[in-house]
Amino acid sequence: MTTPIETLKRQTRGIQMSFSTIIRFRRELLAHWPRLTIALICTLGYTAMRLAEPWPLKFIFDNVLVNQPLVTPSPWVNETIGTDRMRILYTAAGALLLFALFRGIFYYFQSVLTSYVGQEVVIRIRRQLFAHLQRLSLRFHNESSTGDLLTRLTGDINNLRQLLAASLLSLISEGILLISFLVVMFVMNWRLALLAVITMPVIFVLVTFYSSRIRQASRKQRRREGELASRMHENLSGIHVVQLFARERHEDAQLRGLNKRSLRAGLKSTKLEGKMNQGIEISVAIGMALTLCFGATEVIAGRLSAGGLLVFVTYMQSFYRPIRRLSRVAERASKAASCVDRITDILDEESEIKDGTVRAPRFRGEIAFSNVCFRYRNDLPVLNDIDLTIATGQTVALVGPSGAGKSTLASMVSRLYDPTAGTVSIDGTDIRDFTLTSLRDNVSVVPQDGVLFGGTIRANIAYGRLDATDAEITEAAIAANIHDFVMTLPEGYDTVISERGVSLSGGQQQRIAIARALIKDAPIVLLDEPTTGLDSRSEGLVMEALERLLEGRTAIVIAHRLGTIRRASLIVVIDDGQIVESGTHAELLARGGGYCAFHDLQYPSTSGPNEDTVRPPDGVIRFGRASA
Ligand SMILES: Nc1ncnc2c1ncn2[C@@H]1O[C@H](COP(=O)(O)OP(=O)(O)OP(=O)(O)O)[C@@H](O)[C@H]1O
Ligand SMILES: [Mg+2]
Repeated sequence: MTTPIETLKRQTRGIQMSFSTIIRFRRELLAHWPRLTIALICTLGYTAMRLAEPWPLKFIFDNVLVNQPLVTPSPWVNETIGTDRMRILYTAAGALLLFALFRGIFYYFQSVLTSYVGQEVVIRIRRQLFAHLQRLSLRFHNESSTGDLLTRLTGDINNLRQLLAASLLSLISEGILLISFLVVMFVMNWRLALLAVITMPVIFVLVTFYSSRIRQASRKQRRREGELASRMHENLSGIHVVQLFARERHEDAQLRGLNKRSLRAGLKSTKLEGKMNQGIEISVAIGMALTLCFGATEVIAGRLSAGGLLVFVTYMQSFYRPIRRLSRVAERASKAASCVDRITDILDEESEIKDGTVRAPRFRGEIAFSNVCFRYRNDLPVLNDIDLTIATGQTVALVGPSGAGKSTLASMVSRLYDPTAGTVSIDGTDIRDFTLTSLRDNVSVVPQDGVLFGGTIRANIAYGRLDATDAEITEAAIAANIHDFVMTLPEGYDTVISERGVSLSGGQQQRIAIARALIKDAPIVLLDEPTTGLDSRSEGLVMEALERLLEGRTAIVIAHRLGTIRRASLIVVIDDGQIVESGTHAELLARGGGYCAFHDLQYPSTSGPNEDTVRPPDGVIRFGRASA
């Protein structure tokens, strides 16, 4: 069980956190300074109205009911209305109404404005966070969980909004209110004020003690509700299993148990809240009784007017509200603290892929890897001293066992990763000099699993070039061998495919990905196992499409199926992060090394150096143009 001291510490930390959050996001907040200033003025106005509210009663008491001469700091007021009791009464009543009216108006604008600023700031931060996330290196994304990033973009940001909007201004307004109450009370009668203040620590201890228990209870309740929801979700999503096994009664019973537990947890927090309120009421009543007793003697002694006592008592009664609110805000702030950390952590994360400064022209397409070494964070070396030059227009195939580092090497061309040592250059310039956008505009990638977005087929193809016309999209689709299929769909190019393209077959996704790469019309093409998992017919269609894609471009093709690459102008065998062999298909077979062994595994009956004897069973597809 947490002690009040711990709670106090946590709340202090919460308040500190609020201020450091304001400082962290000062630029976003200051952008709204006119609104914030008005909100602050309204807060002050609201506080002033709360302070002023008991005063008309005092005048009615002292100067209307008990016929004392009116004494206000303003002689003008004393002279004009001071002599007429009815006038004092009407003025006081009018003032009461005005105070209530203005209090409402101030409160309205204060809450609307702060909420507005809170929302605006959060939208800005979310935009920043999203933009930042999109540009963070792939290495960062590999190491983060998507679900976690999503919670940061949604849940954590909403908590931040609460902290900024709701908490902050109430921190200010309740703080001011509490201090003003105290000041006015001490000025009116310090002995009585001292007495009244005695109950404050009691209330404070009560609030801190109970609020931590209430928090625990309501957290438990939320957990129970979460369990309930996920249980129902499981049940409904597996409804066919439930029905197949006729387990409806069993499921009903399970739900009943969970329901009861959730109810008990909910009741507990309500009970605790009730106890806390009761405790507060009693301490307030005790304080009030003491104050009234002592206050009455002060009134009799003539050190305080009866109306003054009334003001006093009213202030005392409204005392505990700010204390409770402050404690609640501090609690909330301490809870939101972790959310703020989770957001600032990402905003402070720097991408390791630094943007270059030179705008890349359209490349001719000569790619050179020199002494490229690479390791993923703290891991074993993945690439070791790779030296490889790919001539303009050449198609190079990377082969080798799984995990050898082929995909890693290819991803360096578009700078998804930078080498840990060595350089990658295109047309003689280190690619780190180029701006990322202009570099990537020059590289088309067909990833291994297509990776389409939810949306229409048209939008997916146009993702390669956002301003592509319909005619260009159709042209790309025809070249990618997917047009005929698209035309069989009732909605054609407007067919909406689901996320990751799961409503299409593997080969169809692959061909759309090729159309997307084609429409980009980049001088460099990277293909990562474009035909894995396809049957021979689909592979044939995809290969035809690829041949068109590679026409006149520099290409790196990664493949396990040798049938797809044997016509590449250069085959590079990579094993364990190193180039172990390279040459044309015929050369490598003649050498009888690793490639030859690899080849024999796939085509046991056709091994041999003579190219004409090695027609693979799934058909030969020419790849690019073999360079002389
Ligand atoms: N994001 C990553 N973080 C850490 N290690 C990684 C990461 N991606 C790949 N690796 C490791 O790097 C090595 C090379 O991986 P890579 O994906 O380049 O292999 P590959 O040759 O493309 O294999 P495959 O043929 O199976 O696609 C592997 O040992 C792999 O475990
Ligand atoms: Mg790979």
